[in-house]
Amino acid sequence: MARLLILPGDGIGVEVTDVSVYLLKTLGDKHNIKFEFETALFGGSSIDAYGVPVTAEVLKKAKSSNAVLLGAVGGPKWDSLEYEIRPEKGLLALRKELEAFANLRPAVVYPSLQSASTLKSEIVEGVDIMVVRELTGGIYFGAPRGITKLPSGEEKGVNTLSYTTTEIERVSRVAFQIARKRRKKLTSVDKANILDVMELWRRTVARIGREEFPDVELEHLYVDNAAMQLIRRPKSFDVILADNMFGDILSDESAQLTGSLGMLPSASIGSGGAIYEPVHGSAPDIEGKDIANPIASVLSSAMMLKYSFNMDHAADEIDRSVRRVLEKGYRTADIYEKGMTKVGCREMGRLIVEEIKKI
Ligand code: IPM
Ligand code: MN
Repeated sequence: MARLLILPGDGIGVEVTDVSVYLLKTLGDKHNIKFEFETALFGGSSIDAYGVPVTAEVLKKAKSSNAVLLGAVGGPKWDSLEYEIRPEKGLLALRKELEAFANLRPAVVYPSLQSASTLKSEIVEGVDIMVVRELTGGIYFGAPRGITKLPSGEEKGVNTLSYTTTEIERVSRVAFQIARKRRKKLTSVDKANILDVMELWRRTVARIGREEFPDVELEHLYVDNAAMQLIRRPKSFDVILADNMFGDILSDESAQLTGSLGMLPSASIGSGGAIYEPVHGSAPDIEGKDIANPIASVLSSAMMLKYSFNMDHAADEIDRSVRRVLEKGYRTADIYEKGMTKVGCREMGRLIVEEIKKI
């Protein structure tokens, strides 16, 4: 039996997660897997109910479940709160609690959506990148941090970027292992020409590669150059490894290669549990209108089946069904092009499930 904690969160997170749960139930029936679902409040909806973005009880539930499926958090309603109780803080607490240190963000350009990219078709055609972002360390969590008042009366803001050897080693191993199953190329991103911590990053990644993954080609790029090469020669990237902040930035850039943030899933895996969530946010402007694209959440569920339950075949069925529905011309508003059939969130979910039943 697989115990899932469902955290729909805020905004369109709720609608797209509904679609995923419906799909997982269908797959469960089809393959005789028993999923047990428990749903809880998270992010802004938890702030409204309990005053905090995530309660201790929900963190405990997350830890004892086999996987967490998250929607999205945040919205203008909570933007003026202090940092400590903002929806985003709940996300960081959850990642930390589960020690989900490796964040996997695939960016795949689907042939039927190639023209949705803002880059020329011949540049993005066939792009298939996996960004592996360190998620529980670096400048997001480093101490000291905060804003203090100086004797002069002016203020000073501080954050700390630090990594230990162990933190670098464990995320590197995940990235190398993934590369080994793909096209065997890893690009590690750093700023080793200026930051000591990044010199340690580069040295450690190089050693893990040399000692444990000599079959994987390793390339090191400085982050500024990586940002440029990513739009210049995206096809030459296979797996990209980066720290928490550079990974945050480069994963958005990779997402834009595909032209549609509404399509991108993510998995955060580690030693204490796993979180699966769309890369997109809560999109409060389109909340409740049944026009959101559920595909990022649906593909996040596919990643869950693959990485948490080793059900590669079921994950493949989802992937194939999504491609099939797109080939048939069905589009949600975010990826709509002239001549296609526009459908809403629930209808897109229904179409994907229909395809799955046919396989
Ligand atoms: C992401 C988001 C988060 C991050 C924010 C919402 C805290 O941008 O998941 O990429 O920076 O990690
Ligand atoms: Mn981000």
